[in-house]
Amino acid sequence: MKYYNIVFSPCGGTQKIANLIATNLTENVTEIDLSNPTFVDITLEKDSVAIIANPSYGGRVPPIVLEHLKKIMANKAKAILVISFGNRAIDDTLLELYEEAIKLSFIPVAALVAVSQHTLFTQFAVGRPDEDDNKELIKFAKVIKEKLEAKNSSFSNPIPGNKPYKIFKGCPIKPVGNNKCIKCLKCVASCPTGAIKKETPRLTDKTKCISCMRCVTICPTQARHGNNLLLKIASSSMKKEFEGRKPNMLYI
Ligand SMILES: Cc1cc2nc3c(=O)[nH]c(=O)nc-3n(C[C@H](O)[C@H](O)[C@H](O)COP(=O)(O)O)c2cc1C
Ligand code: SF4
Ligand code: SF4
Repeated sequence: MKYYNIVFSPCGGTQKIANLIATNLTENVTEIDLSNPTFVDITLEKDSVAIIANPSYGGRVPPIVLEHLKKIMANKAKAILVISFGNRAIDDTLLELYEEAIKLSFIPVAALVAVSQHTLFTQFAVGRPDEDDNKELIKFAKVIKEKLEAKNSSFSNPIPGNKPYKIFKGCPIKPVGNNKCIKCLKCVASCPTGAIKKETPRLTDKTKCISCMRCVTICPTQARHGNNLLLKIASSSMKKEFEGRKPNMLYI
């Protein structure tokens, strides 16, 4: 049985969670990077297991994830759905991924949501997933492994979410570079949507940018930033929604 780790993780939090699940299920896993701007069609082997992991953006699956998933021939692979979120809420993200996976002929067998440091409002969920999260995720992986071995794909608890899905029109925070830019072009190569041109790495095509914050995270000179004032206003208006330590959840 072949295992795939199909992950969209611009800033690495989702990847940590998916990797922890993957390594506790199997020793050999094939990575499929949904944040690769030049993502091409892939066919999964028969009788595979696929972890599909992405962050919640505005309570939804980022559209680029849906776009790239359509390029994968699932071949009825058993799917373990993973949503990371920054300690606010996932709203309809998991339900959307679950329904999309079925449409694409994956067979969902398990789903989990896990908290990971907020990549826009970095003051929330700092350091998560932490040691306690890791221990819990390893326990989740054991339960998932047992379910895979039992060849049972029915869910005994409902997938959370509502329809119609929550509307998310995107985030107005679009990072740009400043005079610290040394033109290393790392941001150009790794922007998932191709929003940064090599000729002008300090600029951002705001129509393409999805505010994923990867360019901010990877820039070696910290030249890229979102609008700090906008970030402050947005985070303080939503402060209540981030209160308390939100739990990780397994749906099986
Ligand atoms: C544009 C954007 C929208 C987000 N929306 C939400 C949200 O609705 N709820 C939430 O709890 N976290 C939200 N987050 C936080 C991310 O889901 C969280 O930080 C995630 O771990 C990021 O994954 P990554 O580290 O793999 O990039 C959002 C982050 C971004 C960049
Ligand atoms: S990663 Fe930073 S330093 Fe490198 S080109 Fe982009 S903005 Fe400039
Ligand atoms: S330009 Fe926008 S989409 Fe590209 S890496 Fe930066 S935040 Fe992400």
